[in-house]
Amino acid sequence: MRRLDQLLANLGYCSRREARDWIRSGRVTVRGKVVDDFGAKADPADVRLDSEPLDHPDGLLLLLHKPVGLVCSHDEREGANVYSLLPPRWRTRNPLVTSIGRLDKDTSGLLLLTDRSELVHRLTSPKHKVPKVYRATLGTDLPAGLAALFVAGTLVLEGEAAPCAPAELKILSPREAALTLTEGKYHQVRRMFASQGCEVLTLHRPHFGPLDLGDLPAGQWRELPLDTFPT
Ligand code: URA
Repeated sequence: MRRLDQLLANLGYCSRREARDWIRSGRVTVRGKVVDDFGAKADPADVRLDSEPLDHPDGLLLLLHKPVGLVCSHDEREGANVYSLLPPRWRTRNPLVTSIGRLDKDTSGLLLLTDRSELVHRLTSPKHKVPKVYRATLGTDLPAGLAALFVAGTLVLEGEAAPCAPAELKILSPREAALTLTEGKYHQVRRMFASQGCEVLTLHRPHFGPLDLGDLPAGQWRELPLDTFPT
């Protein structure tokens, strides 16, 4: 059960003050009856605004094909962000829609967005070892022995105390590889290659756990069921 004024404001429709005006003016019904008391509580599934069901009252889970050039931070000072690709109402929800882990500004690929904080915690926790696949193109030929080094789980990156978890490297061509990580240290893929003298020129994530981008164009998103990752 949720308070009506809070519910409308948290789903991004309007401010709490506006919600109170909307409710007082009879725009909200609960199970078909006008409720003009903004402090009343109701099951969101029973609420209608102007006769329409509420917009995703249980939460959102989105699969976005992140294009290069957008950041995952909400801080506008860091530049244009991935949330600018969403409908305006979804950008003002509370809890905020946020990315599950991050991709760098210069990295493209599969990014999950949600307002369900338990999903963020579960899917970013190293404990759960969700495999994420990154395709990299390199500025130099891949050195011999790189796959063995990455899978050994002994590589310690500059500034880190713990070694990287074992990561599978598939060599696709002399300057192209797919790396599967089960953790997400800061700029991990770029730093792993850089530690062996290879600059990453382009980086793309086609897979996240069981999900892949399919033919979703860059900049587009699709909705996923909230039970996509059962506990
Ligand atoms: N590793 C990186 O270096 N960048 C990303 O965006 C993701 C993983």
